[in-house]
Amino acid sequence: MSRRSQAVRKAEEYYDSSEADAFYKNVWGGEDIHIGIYSTPDEAIAQASRRTVETMALQVPDLGQKTRVIDLGSGYGGSARYLAGNYGCHVTCLNLSETQNDLNREKNAETNLNALIDVVHGSFEDIPAEDGSVDLVWSQDAILHSGDRPRVLDEISRVLAPGGHVIFTDPMQADDVPDGVLQPILDRIHLSSLGSFAFYRAEFAKRGFSEVQLAPMLGQLRTHYSRVGEELKSRYDEIVRLSGKPYVDNMLRGLEHWVEGADKGYLAWGILHFKKG
Ligand SMILES: C[S@@+](CC[C@H](N)C(=O)[O-])C[C@H]1O[C@@H](n2cnc3c(N)ncnc32)[C@H](O)[C@@H]1O
Repeated sequence: MSRRSQAVRKAEEYYDSSEADAFYKNVWGGEDIHIGIYSTPDEAIAQASRRTVETMALQVPDLGQKTRVIDLGSGYGGSARYLAGNYGCHVTCLNLSETQNDLNREKNAETNLNALIDVVHGSFEDIPAEDGSVDLVWSQDAILHSGDRPRVLDEISRVLAPGGHVIFTDPMQADDVPDGVLQPILDRIHLSSLGSFAFYRAEFAKRGFSEVQLAPMLGQLRTHYSRVGEELKSRYDEIVRLSGKPYVDNMLRGLEHWVEGADKGYLAWGILHFKKG
């Protein structure tokens, strides 16, 4: 763990903080903390967030008891419980935040899914799994936090068995954006770049992966960040009591940058699905 990059250390510090933990647990309910797929713009955040998991799972062929899954940046483990509970998969949750991992372990015990889910503290820049030991790499809105995405993709390629699948979502930039326009977003999340559909397509091709499906859904990113902003404003006093005013005000400003970036077409989000070999 000593080789962790600055981006990884920042992400760990952020997600372990009591302010962030209280915010994510309360706004999403302690399960899924990723962009939702909304059937209407005013749909509940938790319901839309769950639809993202369902949509991804339906895309993976032969998902079942024999599928060895690793969820990179697994948060509170909502997706792992969904995959284990509904498909009987064995899921390894690899996540940097031990604060989130503790709640993940508690919820797995409460739902009797302990035997199917392992929760491991670590970074996806250095995945603690044997070569070729995984059938499905799953990840939602986490790889953006890496300061070295090509290395994450090398790691994904290494741990996947031949013919294995990788399916993930990631808040990204559009394939082409004018210089400097993403700076306010990057500064807030302490990163120097974002991925893009073009980046992932080229990098997976380089590693011998074939493309299964790329589904751009920028409108969902826009709806999601705007819905989270509305929720936060309507529960402002309550969330300020839990996470503090500086955290909440900073989050509201950050969400506005994402919404503006989406309106201007500078961002991207969607489901990306590739197959090894
Ligand atoms: C927006 S949250 C998404 C959590 C989860 N995938 C979900 O959809 O509910 C991003 C997650 O990435 C994790 N993360 C960030 N950098 C990581 C790294 N280098 N290795 C493992 N996890 C990381 C954080 O701990 C956090 O749980």
